[in-house]
Amino acid sequence: MQHKNITFIGTGHMATALIRGLISAHYPGLCITAHDINPEKSQALAIELGIRHEADLALAVKNAAIIVFAVKPNAVAAVCEILKDHLQHKPCIISVAAGIQLATIARFLQTNVLAMIRSMPNTPALIGCGATGLYANKNVDHADREWAESLFRAVGIVHWCNEESTLDAITALSGSGPAYIFLVMEAMQEAAEAIGLEESLAKTFSIQTVLGASRVALETAHPLAELRKQVTSPGGTTEKALEVFEQGDLKALFARAIESACKQAKVLSTRYDTI
Ligand SMILES: NC(=O)c1ccc[n+]([C@@H]2O[C@H](COP(=O)([O-])OP(=O)(O)OC[C@H]3O[C@@H](n4cnc5c(N)ncnc54)[C@H](OP(=O)(O)O)[C@@H]3O)[C@@H](O)[C@H]2O)c1
Repeated sequence: MQHKNITFIGTGHMATALIRGLISAHYPGLCITAHDINPEKSQALAIELGIRHEADLALAVKNAAIIVFAVKPNAVAAVCEILKDHLQHKPCIISVAAGIQLATIARFLQTNVLAMIRSMPNTPALIGCGATGLYANKNVDHADREWAESLFRAVGIVHWCNEESTLDAITALSGSGPAYIFLVMEAMQEAAEAIGLEESLAKTFSIQTVLGASRVALETAHPLAELRKQVTSPGGTTEKALEVFEQGDLKALFARAIESACKQAKVLSTRYDTI
């Protein structure tokens, strides 16, 4: 990974995870600058991780080849309002702000010449197990793409989208997905308690089962349906449970849920169109 100066605006959960990923990949701390509206926060992170800290936003981006927008979506307009006069050196912008289109950021910054990348990571990125969708505008060159990919690979897996709208589907699948799996584990735990297992056993065995099944699925090339068939003996216990899921049309329920999330992602991504 080429060593470019990178500035993080906002030093909350996602920025901290990405910076930790960079440091673990031996990226030099002196090339990383942290800025937050709460300077004590970015300063504390800088001390902890051995990176730079700059309380003045204009100074923070002065020498940056890459600027990462790691603030909540509703703070992006305010950040752009200050930044727009300090980007003559044409840094590449990487946004992690959920649901803000690149055209909106370009409008806030009053420029359409900047290289910009929009990302949709998910919460497991915070423990290095993320799944991130990326989309680049036409100003992004090969080197910027490679750099951005390395940034997010340091916290999980990465997929480049050819269309920005694909990020809505990724939001519905992996962005919101951890909550679906928490619900599945919660339901398994409650069902196990109902048939007599003690609470902590029901919880840990539900979690371990999801983890184990995920690892098996990751480590084999087999289609998921085949893996399911492999563990379903005719006349056995698994078959009985799966019959109940089928009667309740579990797949259709997931299809409706994910479609609904995708529709909402599209609605949310237009919410800044009128600002
Ligand atoms: N966390 C995730 O798993 C996840 C997943 C996918 C996408 N994202 C996206 O990542 C972005 C950051 O999320 P997060 O969870 O890291 O949020 P966070 O923990 O709230 O961090 C954002 C940080 O930015 C600061 N900030 C607010 N306004 C600012 C400004 N004008 N200039 C500089 N800093 C400012 C916040 O300060 P205050 O706390 O004082 O406001 C906070 O310290 C969001 O846009 C979110 O949509 C997060």
